[in-house]
Amino acid sequence: MAATVLIGAQWGDEGKGKITDLLSQDFDYVARFQGGNNAGHTVIHGDRTLKLHLIPSGVMYETVTPVIGNGCVIDPKVLLGEIDTLQSEGISCERLIISTNAHLIMPYHRDLDGASERRLGANEIGTTRRGIGPAYQDKAARLGLRMQDLFDRSIFREKVAAALIEKNDILQKVYGLPTYTVDAIADEYLAYAERLKPYVDEVSPLLNDALDRGDWVFFEGAQGTQLDIDHGTYPFVTSSNPTSGGACVGTGVGPARIDRVLGIAKAYITRVGAGPFPTELFDDDGRQLIDVGHEYGTTTGRERRPGWYDAVIVKSAVQVNGLTDLAITKLDVLSGFDEIKVCVAYEHLGKRYTSVPGHQSAFHHAQPVYETLPGWQTDITGVRRFEDLPGAARDYINYLEELSGVPVSIIAVGPDRAQTIFRDWERRQR
Ligand code: IMP
Repeated sequence: MAATVLIGAQWGDEGKGKITDLLSQDFDYVARFQGGNNAGHTVIHGDRTLKLHLIPSGVMYETVTPVIGNGCVIDPKVLLGEIDTLQSEGISCERLIISTNAHLIMPYHRDLDGASERRLGANEIGTTRRGIGPAYQDKAARLGLRMQDLFDRSIFREKVAAALIEKNDILQKVYGLPTYTVDAIADEYLAYAERLKPYVDEVSPLLNDALDRGDWVFFEGAQGTQLDIDHGTYPFVTSSNPTSGGACVGTGVGPARIDRVLGIAKAYITRVGAGPFPTELFDDDGRQLIDVGHEYGTTTGRERRPGWYDAVIVKSAVQVNGLTDLAITKLDVLSGFDEIKVCVAYEHLGKRYTSVPGHQSAFHHAQPVYETLPGWQTDITGVRRFEDLPGAARDYINYLEELSGVPVSIIAVGPDRAQTIFRDWERRQR
């Protein structure tokens, strides 16, 4: 499938890193299209565990060109740190391409992210405090700095000066924080420019020409559908579009070129940060999901909030993204439960909802309506064929398929790349 988009179908942390790592070797290009270093992908490569925040997982393969699209926001210090770490592990970043139009995360974006969260107090969003929201705010306000600005000293200084008129006022007068000078920012960022220059190029022609040649392009989504600024649980969302339309906007590739949109969903569900979560568990079952599933954030280390699989939000992900199929990850974490619950609808004030309620209050107070399925007691981490799963595990997957209306083509039964069941996925013969 020449152009494949990979999307998180829940609240992020669906195990996209493993699936991307596994599939990206079949592709010629792997492109990030939104978000920044709020994302965190744990990639197990041989006996090494690497945590990537910005650089696409495809960097591990010499045949893959990793791309960071215009829709991303980049903290140059973090990016260079990641390049250094990868190079020190013997993984070359020479092929990396960064869009000239990607926006920069500036030091004041990080300050403002933290300050605004502190101001919200109990109403905080629970952001990663990496400056993501404030960077996208400036992009929309047309006050942002882009990668290309780094390569013209006078334009860079002019734009920083224009931004600082507003930012310093807010930092000082609203939050009582220290201000910045143009010199201090220019000294830091123009030093990064030297090192970043070899990687910066135009991404839209690069990917379109690649598709014209018959090359394969993988669009690697970060976060998840329910964290989308338009389609998620606003305001408890990130500031970009992790849904499939974002892949087009965030790289400059038209929608008609996309062949496949693969949604990734965990066999249960987790969320980090605040916001509504109808199937959230506060009991021993939730504890078991956290402990067995090692549910701690890759970026912030925060313990994730656990819950049963919510078929209503996955159905919404199928519609919003035009998902062609699903990958279900971490099925092995459910082994050992006597019974497994699946949320098939919500109820609020006597009304039953089979799609995400249009009004936020109904979603906040929605009570899950569960179907209960029998669990299985055997270890499934060694299973490689669907037919070899216990009957109850097969029934569970078949039920999720029925509820979502799309096939489950990949099932992950452990963190290792080999611990994967391919049902209907044609690997590329190189
Ligand atoms: P921000 O993206 O740092 O602004 O955070 C906004 C919301 O998105 C918070 O609830 C974060 O916890 C959540 N979030 C951001 N990135 C990720 C991710 O990669 N996985 C899961 N949640 C995320």
